[in-house]
Amino acid sequence: MVTQALAAVVCAMCLLPVLVRAQLQVGFYQRTCPNAESLVRQAVATAFAKDAGIAAGLIRLHFHDCFVRGCDASVLLATNAGGGKTERQAIPNNPSLRGFEVIDAAKASIEQSCPGTVSCADILAFAARDSITLTGNVFYTVPAGRRDGSVSKEQDALDNLPPPTFTAQQLIDRFKNKTLTAEEMVLLSGAHTVGRSFCASFVKRIWNGTTPIVDAGLSSSYAALLRSLCPSSTTQTTLITTAMDPGSPNVLDNNYYKLLPRNMGLFFSDNQLRVDGNLNALVNTFAANETMWKERFAAAMVKMGRIEVQTGRCGQVRLNCSVVNPAASSSSPVELASVDEEGVIATS
Ligand code: HEM
Ligand SMILES: *[C@@H]1O[C@H](CO)[C@@H](O)[C@H](O)[C@H]1NC(C)=O
Ligand SMILES: *[C@@H]1O[C@H](CO)[C@@H](O)[C@H](O)[C@H]1NC(C)=O
Ligand SMILES: *[C@@H]1O[C@H](CO)[C@@H](O)[C@H](O)[C@H]1NC(C)=O
Ligand SMILES: *[C@@H]1O[C@H](CO)[C@@H](O)[C@H](O)[C@H]1NC(C)=O
Repeated sequence: MVTQALAAVVCAMCLLPVLVRAQLQVGFYQRTCPNAESLVRQAVATAFAKDAGIAAGLIRLHFHDCFVRGCDASVLLATNAGGGKTERQAIPNNPSLRGFEVIDAAKASIEQSCPGTVSCADILAFAARDSITLTGNVFYTVPAGRRDGSVSKEQDALDNLPPPTFTAQQLIDRFKNKTLTAEEMVLLSGAHTVGRSFCASFVKRIWNGTTPIVDAGLSSSYAALLRSLCPSSTTQTTLITTAMDPGSPNVLDNNYYKLLPRNMGLFFSDNQLRVDGNLNALVNTFAANETMWKERFAAAMVKMGRIEVQTGRCGQVRLNCSVVNPAASSSSPVELASVDEEGVIATS
């Protein structure tokens, strides 16, 4: 009875506006798991040494986590309790999303030091930051204290992730829905200075059936190059990729903003930042001043990391990032003792 009533109160609190709930804090694990951030950094550095492209994967993983059900590591779950497909099985994530095994490695080493303490959602946020540090020589502190969710549905990914066919207005609206401004949308799009894309995400810009075409805002020589790489028969399962910033796919610089005016934005959505005058002014600003872009990019990453987060008693600290905790251990004593309380009722 008491447990049930308590669960109901906790549940209700999780639905309250953000202001009355616990907030994220820099150094959240200072007392409970002082090595947490360095263990993530080590896991990311080890993976990066083997495959530098993994950094781009980890940055995108955090983005795709935050835009779907908030930054709650729902993107990592391997099963949908309702029986359908998961977020990670959805077309925008499959087969393109990568870096899962780096998160698993970080989680495994953290579980050895401080069991049941560090959420997978926070590990994702730390790993994205570390990837940005490794590729861009940019460091920023990451407010933490996110809790993990337990729901992962394909449809949520389809409904919330912006597709590469979005117009400027659709991009602005989608980011606004996630509390991010148009400027933050342009800032964060600069992440396309690292990483790769499968052919499926841009094939309709270069082929109409079996006829070569050149989409508006795409240079004809770049289109020809892309066509030589991606067959007209490309489908979602064609496993051919190309760098989004062909010159330096593993360096986080402001080259993305320099490629756009050269008609070398890979996606229709990238080119949309040029078509809209207000957005294009920002593109020019960030192309002209890399320092400014990096500063503001880091701040925008922190803001993205706050989207619809669960804190305090809400959600859980998953023990295995791919799996929701067994019912009995979802509020284990270890976990409760490690939570920094702030405006949340105490339990016995
Ligand atoms: C503005 C709307 C956005 C759209 C439409 C978009 C779309 C895409 C698409 C289609 C891909 C390639 C997927 C594939 O392989 O087929 C991609 C890759 C990528 N995106 Fe975005 N994206 C957007 C915003 C962002 C943001 C906000 C970030 C991070 C802050 C981001 C980071 C990345 C990274 C790093 C990659 C490369 C991933 C890898 O190499 O594994 N994107 N994006
Ligand atoms: C975003 O869109 C969803 C679904 O339409 C809506 O419920 C939610 O309130 C919106 N959030 C913001 C911040 O606009
Ligand atoms: C593709 O080709 C069809 C018929 O060949 C034509 O009607 C259509 O307008 C073309 N689409 C584009 C985007 O060029
Ligand atoms: C670039 O931006 C930085 C930081 O915002 C600023 O301090 C610097 O003066 C700018 N540089 C130029 C050349 O405008
Ligand atoms: C986590 O769960 C997945 C999926 O059930 C499983 O394959 C994996 O071995 C588990 N990892 C650990 C460290 O137990």
